[in-house]
Amino acid sequence: MDIVPLQPADYQSIVFFTGAGMSAESGIPTYRGKGGIWTKYHWEQVACEEAFRRDPEQVLTFHRERRLGVAACRPNSGHHIIAALEQQHPRVTVVTQNIDGLHGLAGSARVIELHGSLWRLRCPRDGQRLEIKPGSDYPDRCECGAWLRPDIVWFGDNLDQDVINLAMESLAECDLFVSVGTSGTVWPAAGLPQIARRNGAYSLEINPEANENSRLYDRAYRAPATQVLPRLFPSVTGPVRA
Ligand code: OAD
Repeated sequence: MDIVPLQPADYQSIVFFTGAGMSAESGIPTYRGKGGIWTKYHWEQVACEEAFRRDPEQVLTFHRERRLGVAACRPNSGHHIIAALEQQHPRVTVVTQNIDGLHGLAGSARVIELHGSLWRLRCPRDGQRLEIKPGSDYPDRCECGAWLRPDIVWFGDNLDQDVINLAMESLAECDLFVSVGTSGTVWPAAGLPQIARRNGAYSLEINPEANENSRLYDRAYRAPATQVLPRLFPSVTGPVRA
């Protein structure tokens, strides 16, 4: 596959828009497609407000198990290249649908988590938030007695307006938009490539498989993230931690 390397200095503001495929090579399953999380679990039973009200313990067990799975995984070389690029370029933002925290673990500082984080809990009653450290224990209930829910955007939930605003600000200034590993099926996140395009950004898709959004990109690389990113940004060296 021919990959045309990019010179980051040619761009003023770079946005990486990432989905589950970004973390697939870290060992975290994607949601859809072969082996996907939603082929094994019904989101109606584990990832929506109604399920949490009906059977909080089942929902919390699902998320506890996800945390254990994710805690055993490390950022891959794709995450590290994105983090290293941020060290070398004045404006690099990650807008991610992922809740696994791997961009932050790789060292990315400007990360906008559209769908929240597995590593935060929220009390639905008093709004308190609690950060979780991988490997450490955490309560199921808030001090007020209510069940603590994962601070994640479940099916049917609205995205946090402040988070959307941050994402829109980054898209408004972005002149290079690189999408990595998303099926483009979940809205409003799926609308971001269109917005980047309308704003005039040069846009790329990195995904082994095409989807309905693929026509929105100027160029697509049909290969896994860790094969494309190093060749797309060969000038990015530096703190590529294992
Ligand atoms: P999906 O599981 O829908 O799509 C994953 C995409 O990654 C697919 O298009 C794959 O072809 C691609 N892919 C797989 N391996 C890859 C690799 N090594 N490199 C690059 N791409 C690869 O995941 P998302 O699009 O992220 O919501 O799903 C969107 C949302 O749906 C998620 O944020 C999640 C889910 O319900 C929440 O967690 C709230």
